[in-house]
Amino acid sequence: SSQKMVKICCIGAGYVGGPTMAVIALKCPAIEVVVVDISKPRIDAWNSDQLPIYEPGLDEVVKESRGRNLFFSTDVEKHVAEADIIFVSVNTPTKTRGLGAGKAADLTYWESAARMIADVSKSDKIVVEKSTVPVKTAEAIEKILTHNSKGINYQILSNPEFLAEGTAIEDLFKPDRVLIGGRETPEGKKAVQALKEVYAHWVPEDRIITTNLWSAELSKLAANAFLAQRISSVNAISALCEATGANVAEVAYAVGKDSRIGPKFLNASVGFGGSCFQKDILNLVYICECNGLPEVANYWKQVIKINDYQKSRFVNRVVSSMFNTVSGKKIAVLGFAFKKDTGDTRETPAIDVCHGLLGDKAQISIYDPQVTEDQIQRDLAMSKFDWDHPMHLQPTSPTAFKQVSVVWDAYEATKGAHGLCILTEWDEFKTLDYQKIFDNMQKPAFVFDGRNVVDAEKLREIGFIVYSIGKPL
Ligand code: NAD
Ligand code: UGA
Repeated sequence: SSQKMVKICCIGAGYVGGPTMAVIALKCPAIEVVVVDISKPRIDAWNSDQLPIYEPGLDEVVKESRGRNLFFSTDVEKHVAEADIIFVSVNTPTKTRGLGAGKAADLTYWESAARMIADVSKSDKIVVEKSTVPVKTAEAIEKILTHNSKGINYQILSNPEFLAEGTAIEDLFKPDRVLIGGRETPEGKKAVQALKEVYAHWVPEDRIITTNLWSAELSKLAANAFLAQRISSVNAISALCEATGANVAEVAYAVGKDSRIGPKFLNASVGFGGSCFQKDILNLVYICECNGLPEVANYWKQVIKINDYQKSRFVNRVVSSMFNTVSGKKIAVLGFAFKKDTGDTRETPAIDVCHGLLGDKAQISIYDPQVTEDQIQRDLAMSKFDWDHPMHLQPTSPTAFKQVSVVWDAYEATKGAHGLCILTEWDEFKTLDYQKIFDNMQKPAFVFDGRNVVDAEKLREIGFIVYSIGKPL
C-alpha cells in the first residue's frame, strides 16, 4: 500500500483537528498531514510558540512533527485538492434560529466544507467525518459531493472522536477504541481499510472497530449521552444527599464498586459543561423527535434538565445561605474553565453561576489559571448557543459587567470577599493557604465547593462555613 506518500488534509484546526492530526503525524512519519482553517489567527498560532489551545503534552507532540510532516495552513483549497484522505473537523454547533433552533445541529460549516471539497477536487477522495454530526449526515454529504462530482469517486467515512479535553494527548495515544463506519460496498470497505491502516500505526488492531455509517455516527451521540447521563444521575442523587445527610462521595463509591457500573465519571459537581455534552444531547433529542420518538426524546432531555437544575440549585444555595442576599457582596470565583487542565470555557457552568450571582447584584472577582479577562467578559456577554458561531462573534462592549473583575491570583480574588465559590477542580485549589484566605475575608466566611476539591473538615477548623456538593454540613 505504500507506493506513494499518503496525504492527509484536515479541515478545521480546533480542539479536535489540531491535537488529532498532531498525533497522526507523530505516529505516522511517512504520512504528510496538513491542517487547514479559514481562521488566520488560529493557523498563525498553530505555527507559533503559543499554540491556540492549552492541552497538557500538546506542545511536545506538535514540536516533534511540525515542519517535518505536520503543517498548518490557510491555503484550504490547495491542500484539499492534493489530499487522499480529508478529515472534516469543523464546528457543528446548535442552531440558533429557524427550523430546530435551540436543538438541531447547525451544519452550515460542514456543508460549506463539503461544497468546497466538491469544487476543488480533481482526484478520488476519502472524506472522513471527524466532527460530531447527526446520524444520517453522511447521506447528505454524499449527495453534495456526488451531485457535483465530475466523475470523481468519493467515499464517506464516519470516524468520530472520543478524546476529552485536558487529557487529549493521552486519549489519542491510548484510545479505548477507534470507530470507523463506512459503506458496505467493495469501495467502501477499501476506504475503511485505508483509514484503519493509518490508526494501526499505533492503535492495537482489536481496538479499531468497524461498523456501518449510521452505527458510527449514532455511537458518538450515544456515548456522550451515556457519559452525561452518569453525571446527571450522580448530581440528582447529590440533591437527595443534601436533604438527608447521606454523603454523595460515599454513595458514588459504593455504587461504583459494582463492576457493572464502574467507578469512573461519578463525581458530583456544579454541573457538566464543555462544548459537546449539551449540544450533542439536544441533537439526539431533535433526531428522536424527527423520527416520531417523543418518549425517547423526553428521556434524554431529562439529562439536560437535571444539569440546569444542578447549576441553579448551586446559585440558590449560595444566596440562601448568605442570608438570602448577595447584593453588593464580593464573591470570589475560583475556576472558570469547564474542567481542569484546559482554558476552554465553552458552556462552562461558571457562566450560569456568574449570571445567577449577578442577577442578585453580587460583585464577582474571578481567578482561573488559564482563562483571560477578555474571554470571561465575552462569555458573560454572549447569549445562549452563540459561543460556537465564531462568524457572529460580537466584540466586547467596554461597559459590560463592571460588577465583574478578573484577577491573576486566588488570594487577590478572595481578599475582602464574603463568599468563595470553587467552580473548576484545578489541582492548585487543593493546596492554597486557606488560613491566609480566611484571614483576609469578611466574616462569616463562606466556601461553596462546586467540585468537592477542598478538605471541608480542615476548612471548618479554620473557621469557614463550608458547603460541599451532596455532603452533610
Ligand atoms: P473548534 O471550534 O475548536 O474548531 C473548529 C474549527 O473549524 C474552527 O477553527 C473553525 O474556524 C474551523 N472551520 C469552520 N468552518 C470551516 C471551513 N469551512 N473551512 C475551514 N475551517 C473551518 O471545534 P472543536 O472543539 O475542534 O470541535 C469540532 C468537532 O468535533 C465538533 O463537531 C465537536 O462536536 C467534535 N468533538 C469535539 C471534542 C472536543 O473535546 N472539543 C471532542 C470530540 C468531538
Ligand atoms: C467529553 C467526553 O468525555 C469525550 O469522550 C468526548 O469526546 C467529548 O466530550 C466530546 O465529544 O466533546 P470533555 O467535554 O472534553 O469530553 O470533558 P469531560 O471530561 O467529559 O467533562 C465534561 C464535563 O463533565 C466537565 O464540565 C466535567 O467537569 C464534568 N464532569 C465530568 C463531572 O461533573 N463529573 C464527572 O464525574 C466527570
